[in-house]
Amino acid sequence: MRVLAAAVAALAVIILVVMSQARPLPDRPLPTAHGEGPVALPSPAPAGAISLEEALARRRSVRAFTPRALSTNEVGQLLWAAQGVTDSRGHRTAPSAGATYPLEVYAVTPEGVWRYLPAGHALAIVRTGDVRPDLAAAALGQGAVASAPLVVVINGVVTRTAARYGSRAERYVWLEAGHAAQNVLLEAVALDLGAVPIGAFDDDAVRAVVGASAGEDALYLVPVGHPAQ
Ligand SMILES: Cc1cc2nc3c(=O)[nH]c(=O)nc-3n(C[C@H](O)[C@H](O)[C@H](O)COP(=O)(O)O)c2cc1C
Repeated sequence: MRVLAAAVAALAVIILVVMSQARPLPDRPLPTAHGEGPVALPSPAPAGAISLEEALARRRSVRAFTPRALSTNEVGQLLWAAQGVTDSRGHRTAPSAGATYPLEVYAVTPEGVWRYLPAGHALAIVRTGDVRPDLAAAALGQGAVASAPLVVVINGVVTRTAARYGSRAERYVWLEAGHAAQNVLLEAVALDLGAVPIGAFDDDAVRAVVGASAGEDALYLVPVGHPAQ
């Protein structure tokens, strides 16, 4: 009997140790200094609080946000939903024509602009400072862009997909941006946040604000935040 009690106690200790090691990483601020290398985001949570069906049913465009910042965990989870790598061959959360992966995803916050690096689930800083007023101006003055604590910017490099699919590539890249944006919208609901997809903007102005590379087209903006009400 005493042996059994000892075995149960040992098992409990092992379970506690394993559980404590599986805790999500503590939240930490995003890098803000130029010259810092890419910084890994916290590992995405493998499960959320609500079902996919509930997220679909609850999704509604939200255009007014409180100033409350998003946590690094939330930013990471939203970027993972857009383009996170989900297997050892490099496939991602969103489908891609021929796995050519033409999308480039940026996070715009009050602190700056970062480019998402899917392979390392990391962020590379592009520029510091609050560019949301410039981004909102590029989006015809839309208040959701100016007030959201995070704007996910989805750009596309058509030549990556055109190398395989020629003149069908432009269509494929636009479709792919829709997949990635919908993933962000649903992830926002799952995190109890609000979001809206934005297609009305000046392409070149958005490209300039996020410091896009040559060959990147600005395709979609998704402001995300805590709904105001
Ligand atoms: C391609 C596309 C572009 C959109 N562009 C904008 C936009 O520029 N600004 C905006 O406030 N909403 C925009 N929306 C959101 C729609 O207005 C919204 O989805 C629609 O009113 C339906 O409401 P719901 O999203 O709450 O279901 C866009 C939606 C799509 C699919």
